Amino acid sequence: MCQTALHPFLEALPKCEHHMHIEGSLEPELLFELAAKNGIALPAPSAGEGGDPAYASIDALRKRYEAFTGLDDFLGYYYIAMSALVDAADFERLGLAYFRKAAAQNVRHAEVFFDPQAHSVRGVKLSTVVEGIQAARERAERELGITSVLIMCVLRHLPPAEGVALFEEARDAGYFSGMLGGIGLDSSEKPFPPALWTELYGAAKAAGVRRTAHAGEEGPAQYIVDSLDMLDAQRIDHGLRSVLAGDERVTEALLERLVEQKIMLTLCPLSNVRLRCLESVRDFPLRKLLDRGVRFSINSDDPAYFGGYILENYCALQDAFGLSVREWESIAKGAVMGSWCSDRRKAEIFMEIEAVAGEWSVGLGDQ
Ligand code: ADE
Ligand code: ZN
Repeated sequence: MCQTALHPFLEALPKCEHHMHIEGSLEPELLFELAAKNGIALPAPSAGEGGDPAYASIDALRKRYEAFTGLDDFLGYYYIAMSALVDAADFERLGLAYFRKAAAQNVRHAEVFFDPQAHSVRGVKLSTVVEGIQAARERAERELGITSVLIMCVLRHLPPAEGVALFEEARDAGYFSGMLGGIGLDSSEKPFPPALWTELYGAAKAAGVRRTAHAGEEGPAQYIVDSLDMLDAQRIDHGLRSVLAGDERVTEALLERLVEQKIMLTLCPLSNVRLRCLESVRDFPLRKLLDRGVRFSINSDDPAYFGGYILENYCALQDAFGLSVREWESIAKGAVMGSWCSDRRKAEIFMEIEAVAGEWSVGLGDQ
């Protein structure tokens, strides 16, 4: 909860989320429960070979999540945790737990990543994962009024040919004609440059499948440029390096391009701090994004690991920057415009945002 008068407004504000990994919402409680149910051995809580004291208890694991040294350190825990997910019911439970939290924070539309290769290496089929998450999405829409898009991510630390084979499997199963709304690229960023993924992204484009890609999280701004040029990515996940001081020759031209082509950055402030891409939320380039007119959304990335869901990210920014109701209204509307939902759905959420912002700008004197 932020310490400002705007907190109830931020809670009520209708939100769109575009950057959250469903496996990254696996809370330690559910992780231990599913591991016990499925007979999955987590690392022993001893300090010796193969052991990790972080697995001694839920509290110890949470504490460890507060001390990531960077993206790869986090990913080690992320991949271990998802080994507890085995059958379609596990994925449905995971998805529903996320959608319920999101609904409680007034998320109206969510675009959700999943990592099938991290499951297929353990013998869990693509169909098991997709069907489990699909069941959760249907219930979320029916019971909570949240619409969603499911985005299949390819792991960039695995051979590109495996990513192409996964895409072909999903395409040939007909998943892109309803259940899947696009592809993404995630996992360790360096040293896996966008150039490795031209075949995958070319195949997706040829099949009329939407494309996003993580870039410029830990990697250089040039990875963002290359994701646009070489992969024809339609939006960029993180893209933080395009707005941070660095190589101004790259970032100035890139910023102009992002603005002109209305390419959305899906940004994740609490993730950036936990993964040490930023020292503190105060270093998040929010003012620059607003001043330059970059289209962006604020997201939770891996909420079970980074200290909060979407509202906690909004609150952290509010504590650091003290925005007005009207500035938040414009952020929320920018997120709607960058969403991969129908124009009709966008218009509905737009109206909901206007109603809430209208009400609160009167109550708060547009602080
Ligand atoms: N997979 C889950 N979270 C990620 C992140 N922040 N960056 C890259 N890959 C991820
Ligand atoms: Zn991510």
